[in-house]
Amino acid sequence: MKKILLLLLPLVALHVSAQGLKDVFKKDFLVGVSLNPRNVRNANEKDLVRKEFNSVTCENAMKPGELHPSPNEWKWEEADRIANFCRENGIKMRGHCLVWHNQFAEWMYYDDKGGFVDKETFYARLKDHIQTVMNRYKDITYCWDVVNEAMSDSGENPYRESKLYQLCGDEFIAKAFQFAREADPKAILFYNDYNETNPRKSKNIYEMVLRMRSEGVPIDGIGMQGHYNIYGPDAKELEDALTLYAPLVEHIHITELDVRINKEMGGQLKFSKEGASVNDTIQALHAQQYERLFKSFRKFHDKIDCVTFWNLHDGCSWLGEKNYPLLFDAALQPKPAYYRLIK
Ligand code: G3I
Repeated sequence: MKKILLLLLPLVALHVSAQGLKDVFKKDFLVGVSLNPRNVRNANEKDLVRKEFNSVTCENAMKPGELHPSPNEWKWEEADRIANFCRENGIKMRGHCLVWHNQFAEWMYYDDKGGFVDKETFYARLKDHIQTVMNRYKDITYCWDVVNEAMSDSGENPYRESKLYQLCGDEFIAKAFQFAREADPKAILFYNDYNETNPRKSKNIYEMVLRMRSEGVPIDGIGMQGHYNIYGPDAKELEDALTLYAPLVEHIHITELDVRINKEMGGQLKFSKEGASVNDTIQALHAQQYERLFKSFRKFHDKIDCVTFWNLHDGCSWLGEKNYPLLFDAALQPKPAYYRLIK
């Protein structure tokens, strides 16, 4: 008997090492990653994606400002490159994103004199954009971040006072979801935001989604971006937010997970690239936070059906390598946090 076990051991080890994150969590949720066009030009990085992940999001390539920089100009090349990689490898995609105040197709706001167009003209332009993009990728995308980051981080107004809001009030949210539903009735449609575990913002997101859904707006899910750090959120803060959202929507996605080693968090574009020096204590806190997060995700696996890492490795993280945010370092080597999750 012992001899048989000894013979089997290498096979078991081989099987375990051949397993990736997507295999370990396959009973819980999809495990995804955001990609840039360079990732899908690099053989080693493509191998890593194939081994570890079963969902892909374009980090930037499918954003309105990248795809549709002027009224009659479409730039499909980079998004097509990533979508074709997914088609060739049978990996489903999260579409990101259709409406966001950042990297938006800014020309949609203005008339030829530089003033705001009327809302109906804006909606006609937005509808054309949303439906053109969704139709092009409906074979490979199973869900979309329809509206990203419409809620504010502070102040009296629960809504971010972006140009979108100045022109339309909150109506652009309802319109965007309506246009998306018309374009692809099968797609799961998400509202996506960051600092989603902050109690004030969680409440504002909850109340907006509750009201919109009560008015018939087809918001199927809430995307929690998950730009966290090694100090927070703690399990209670995360699970309080999940407990609030879970009864409200059919789907929750963790859409942009990374865990930086300084005390900042969120999706804001202003952040320090400074990080901290990575010593054993920092390594341990990093692994501990990822383990803690995934324990909470698993508790809510009946509602969380995808957890996506934002960027493939530290070398291409939007936060910069010094923030040490992901499971793989710039040389694609797994960190202690990776082994903590795989175990
Ligand atoms: O495409 C231009 C290029 O032509 C130019 O040469 C280069 C240098 O200026 O800039 C390039 O644009 C950059 C773009 O990424 C594409 O690489 C922008 O400067 C840069 O600001 C932009 O950063 C992206 C950021 O969104 C802002 O839009 C990050 O890569 C991306 O990871 C980040 O992702 C967002 C999510 O979409 C939404 N949630 C928050 C998250 C982090 O901000």
